[in-house]
Amino acid sequence: MEDRRLFLKKSALTLMTLSMPMVLSCKTGATIKMNPKKPKKAVVFWYSQTGNTERAGRLIAETLKNNSLKVEASEYREIDPESVADYDLIIAGSPVYYYDVPANFKKWLHSLPGIVGIPCAAYVTFGGTGGNQHNTACTLLELLSDKGGAPVGMETFGNMSTFAITWSSGNANRVLQYKHLPDEDSYGRMRDFASSVLNRAKLGQQIEIDKEIDFRDLIKNSPSIWSTKLFISRHTINREKCVECGTCVKKCPADAIDLSKYYVDTDRCIACLGCVNNCPAQAVDMAFMGKEIYGYKEFVRRNRIQVPVPKELSPDFS
Ligand SMILES: Cc1cc2nc3c(=O)[nH]c(=O)nc-3n(C[C@H](O)[C@H](O)[C@H](O)COP(=O)(O)O)c2cc1C
Repeated sequence: MEDRRLFLKKSALTLMTLSMPMVLSCKTGATIKMNPKKPKKAVVFWYSQTGNTERAGRLIAETLKNNSLKVEASEYREIDPESVADYDLIIAGSPVYYYDVPANFKKWLHSLPGIVGIPCAAYVTFGGTGGNQHNTACTLLELLSDKGGAPVGMETFGNMSTFAITWSSGNANRVLQYKHLPDEDSYGRMRDFASSVLNRAKLGQQIEIDKEIDFRDLIKNSPSIWSTKLFISRHTINREKCVECGTCVKKCPADAIDLSKYYVDTDRCIACLGCVNNCPAQAVDMAFMGKEIYGYKEFVRRNRIQVPVPKELSPDFS
């Protein structure tokens, strides 16, 4: 069993090493008819497990409001997909999870109605040096343009990684190198992104979706999730520690947690770590290669990290 695990680990590492981005690129977009028009109402929606993508989305929304737009800003599950076609500008935000847009968010985006000719933009947040963030942002924008949206902007914003397995496995310093992010420069880029998207929408200027050839596209999503799950040796809820707040149930995009039985359906689990990252009582009992995993909230607390809040948002935003 140990040999098999070692072999699988080596294979995974080899794939990671092979996954150097190449300079070749593949362009799509700029084929949809968009009428230049001053947008009056915009929608900004996002998927966010630990707040980074939400913070960016809220700042982008505030920047649009400061430009006299009426803006709806919310986590995607709060938005009626049918209503998205009623806006003059659409902006979607996602974290990069396993080199891709998370499958639950993709599924929701597939359920959108036609948004033909409506200017749309996408941003992603990623961790540390990043992993396939550019192509993930392209994928997100493609999902909107597949529905007829006219692409007018795309950006990637870096911050500290929330991949709890890294620090729990003793590599905290790799993550802490980025503890200063997001900073004022990041917030400046987010405001600029919102302004440039708005400008392009007014002028009717579309952008090309310019994907790089990146081998990480071969292992994105399911293969990476599957290989991570292979090493998760324990994943339950500790009933002694659980305060029954329901955070894990709310955060789990796979409906894999039944709190009445303190049960995690590990077959359904997609290893997003949303449960362990957000549990306020450290009651999610999870081990990776035999090592106890502790979540993002606890990591931030132990390292006394305070993410600065942009001035447009409430100081209570965490
Ligand atoms: C399960 C998981 C997988 C991740 N995979 C990647 C990845 O493939 N590439 C990357 O650059 N960052 C990755 N990250 C880091 C997140 O993209 C990053 O921390 C993001 O800002 C989290 O956004 P959120 O706080 O809005 O959930 C991952 C984080 C988690 C928890």
